[in-house]
Amino acid sequence: DWTPGNVIADQVAAIREQVGDARVICGLSGGVDSSVAAALVQRAIGDQLTCVFVDHGLLRAGEAEQVETDFVASTGVRLKVVDAKQRFLDALAGVSDPETKRKIIGREFIRVFEDAAREVVAEAGAHGEDVKFLVQGTLYPDVVESGGGEGAANIKSHHNVGGLPDDLQFSLIEPLRALFKDEVRAVGLELGVPGTIVWRQPFPGPGLGIRIVGDITAERLETLRTADAIAREELTAAGLDREIWQCPVVLLADVRSVGVQGDGRTYGHPIVLRPVSSEDAMTADWTRLPYDVLAKISTRITNEVAEVNRVVLDVTSKPPGTIEWE
Ligand code: XMP
Repeated sequence: DWTPGNVIADQVAAIREQVGDARVICGLSGGVDSSVAAALVQRAIGDQLTCVFVDHGLLRAGEAEQVETDFVASTGVRLKVVDAKQRFLDALAGVSDPETKRKIIGREFIRVFEDAAREVVAEAGAHGEDVKFLVQGTLYPDVVESGGGEGAANIKSHHNVGGLPDDLQFSLIEPLRALFKDEVRAVGLELGVPGTIVWRQPFPGPGLGIRIVGDITAERLETLRTADAIAREELTAAGLDREIWQCPVVLLADVRSVGVQGDGRTYGHPIVLRPVSSEDAMTADWTRLPYDVLAKISTRITNEVAEVNRVVLDVTSKPPGTIEWE
């Protein structure tokens, strides 16, 4: 019988058997997969697991806190947080080309994660223990896709946050390898992972960095974060957050348009709403959101986000558009 409880019991036994007394490390991104994988391993071996969360500053409002407080509180996981916000801003300064952004973010992420992993290894070494395993939140569709070659990945260089450091020799623990997303969510809920994480929509590893068309600055990130939080709030209030696959919110930082607000002329930036319906993100259709919800989001964003004077809706399916703009 497939039940979340049975999956947990089987995996807990398998992980204990595989790991023995060794120590284990896990990269947390704040997304569903890595969170549920970490919670499952934590259930099996407790304090033998150390999670590493690299805060690259490209997350949405509240996401770092959800990992640092909610996730830790509900799972009791031992967590190492690395604040790398400034490092990423420096590395990305002046860069507007999407592929260059993706490569820089991927490269910096691996470096920061490697450093943190070395520290965990060194700390464990002092206790005479070895860090031998790395947890990855690989799902069944990921296994199938990588078996089928990197075809789709050539369109955009996707990187899996939490990628393997080469010179640190780890064996992999992949407790979700046989599961689909909805099954992972059921297991996560059973493990007590907060709903704010379990029901999170897909979010790209490079985060808000690839949702700013133009180069990335702290101010632009703040503008986008505020607009995105408003859109998410209104979609949730309308009960639509679980119906749509995801809704990227994009800041066109390189575009300005003329507007009028109060008595004055404005010359601000557009925000794009990109709500999509999809089964697997390989193809997608734009979601026909109710006009009153769109109106509410538009009014709030233009009123509450100073630099934004226009909200536009992306009505392109995939193909020809990709879901993300970069
Ligand atoms: P595209 O834009 O290629 O996106 O239609 C398909 C799905 O993948 C997500 N996405 C990423 N996920 N790392 C990730 O982990 C990435 O670099 C990345 N780029 C896009 C996107 O949000 C959508 O769900």
